[in-house]
Amino acid sequence: MKVDPLQRYLHVLSDEEALADAVAQAILATADAMVREHGAFRIALAGGNTPRRTHAALLRRGLAARADLAVWDLWFGDERCVPPGDAASNARMVDESLLEGLRVRPTVHRVPTELGAASVIAAAYEAELVRAFALRPGAIPVFDMVLLGLGADGHTASIFPGDAALGERRRLVAPAKSPKPPHDRVTLTLPVLCAASMVLFVVSGADKAPVLRLALDEDMGLPVDEVRPTSGIVNFFADAAAASLVRKHK
Ligand code: 6PG
Repeated sequence: MKVDPLQRYLHVLSDEEALADAVAQAILATADAMVREHGAFRIALAGGNTPRRTHAALLRRGLAARADLAVWDLWFGDERCVPPGDAASNARMVDESLLEGLRVRPTVHRVPTELGAASVIAAAYEAELVRAFALRPGAIPVFDMVLLGLGADGHTASIFPGDAALGERRRLVAPAKSPKPPHDRVTLTLPVLCAASMVLFVVSGADKAPVLRLALDEDMGLPVDEVRPTSGIVNFFADAAAASLVRKHK
């Protein structure tokens, strides 16, 4: 699709199932390339509900039979500060919709929400990033792929309009406040999201049509607009319902 200076690519699929399948194909193709290129696939998963269909499509497309799963590193783009088994936990959503379908498990870097306070959780997850990516002081981890959702208010991961996490440029993981419960969250920060080799927003449903139009046709300074990868490429995968109001990128 047409590309603007930031190189935002819009891929429109007919419905939510076709969307999930297209995203699964993109993930598997990128994994093939990254495992060939550097022997691992480091991906940050999105939270919320939309990823459930993508995870089901990954399983339908044979994820469980892949020989390279052992070199996949799964991370969380954000997490709610709730106990691990809580119904609002993104880790629980990933367990239910993806990991329980796998015999061979990838390495899963869960956000240690059992630590309690968001600031403590964020610091611990940042330490895990530093360790796992063997980062020098001040370095930023480069994910092969970051999957992101889009909230109706233009938030992504747990970076909400007006929240301090939006302005965080030093830390890799920050505590965040959501206007919707669970209010306490932690999130990868924009420096990390923007360092990714590939960013992939997955947007589904008519309720997201107004915000996707704002994200693609205007520049309102929403959190979604601040995801400007140094690689320069942002892929929006949307179903027709979510893309129904977009004008400039068609
Ligand atoms: C979260 C997500 C959040 C989500 C959007 C879209 O933890 O809630 O990271 O950014 O991706 O709110 O959520 P849905 O997919 O449920 O619409």
